[in-house]
Amino acid sequence: MIVVAHIFVVLALLACSCIVAHPTIYPHIALKHGKGNRVRALPNPPPPIISYHIHITYTLFNPPVVKEALELRNRTRQRFQDYLAPDCPGRYDYGYLCMIDDHDIENTTLIGGPFVSGEWSIFVPLGDYPLITPWLTQNRGNLSLLLHPNTGYEYEDHDIWALWAGQRWPLDMSIFDKETQTNEFGHYPGDSDNPVCLSKNGVCGDDQLYTSTLCCFDLACKAAETISNGFSNHTIHRCA
Ligand SMILES: *[C@@H]1O[C@H](CO)[C@@H](O)[C@H](O)[C@H]1NC(C)=O
Ligand SMILES: *[C@@H]1O[C@H](CO)[C@@H](O)[C@H](O)[C@H]1NC(C)=O
Ligand SMILES: *[C@@H]1O[C@H](CO)[C@@H](O)[C@H](O)[C@H]1NC(C)=O
Ligand SMILES: *[C@@H]1O[C@H](CO)[C@@H](O)[C@H](O)[C@H]1NC(C)=O
Repeated sequence: MIVVAHIFVVLALLACSCIVAHPTIYPHIALKHGKGNRVRALPNPPPPIISYHIHITYTLFNPPVVKEALELRNRTRQRFQDYLAPDCPGRYDYGYLCMIDDHDIENTTLIGGPFVSGEWSIFVPLGDYPLITPWLTQNRGNLSLLLHPNTGYEYEDHDIWALWAGQRWPLDMSIFDKETQTNEFGHYPGDSDNPVCLSKNGVCGDDQLYTSTLCCFDLACKAAETISNGFSNHTIHRCA
């Protein structure tokens, strides 16, 4: 019986690998309309972390707070301009550090998401975690920060595996199913959509941040060219 059950899990995973590479929104939405796939069972040990999301959450309809949230987003964009790829229109499997741009962050929250507050967010590949997490934790001001892994088990990702800095907001967890994989089928840490380290010439650090992203294999993070961008002159480091 156990063998049979395992075969079904393998078949289910194979069947699901055809899922679109870039779900533009939380995949449970497709499930509610009878599309998409799910696997019911939480593995032990827990499933691998494939990437992270960092969300900044704030009170909508309080103009000074919204302004603070938008200013922090601008400062984050400026601080990490050498590392960020163009904004991503969805939330998963982008292959690079990017600001998520999928709704009006000034006036509303994301329809179909778990947030009851305003939020803006960043897709964080594993290698960029030590670059951006400490900076945002120290620079978030009065705003709350939610850091959660993406494993495909969205209930646990947003709940028991999540970390908060600042005041913890309630989330609408009714949209997720416990112990159920609804996302990331066929993905694993280190695939091209979810890199764990930077390849040659990737920007891995600079002379103002002590932490750096991880370079792959035998590459090292070395000082490269000086950038002048109107705000500062600084030397960036690249994997070489
Ligand atoms: C953020 O940056 C954009 C683009 O540079 C600018 O239009 C906007 O006024 C800035 N917002 C805040 C709150 O600083
Ligand atoms: C948010 O609402 C304000 C006030 O109605 C408006 O000026 C602004 O353009 C809206 N922002 C976006 C991104 O639509
Ligand atoms: C945080 O809130 C306090 C009190 O409302 C305010 O004085 C301060 O300017 C806020 N911090 C930032 C970074 O906006
Ligand atoms: C950057 O360096 C140039 C050349 O040395 C200098 O003219 C400029 O003022 C510097 N810019 C900043 C923002 O420090």
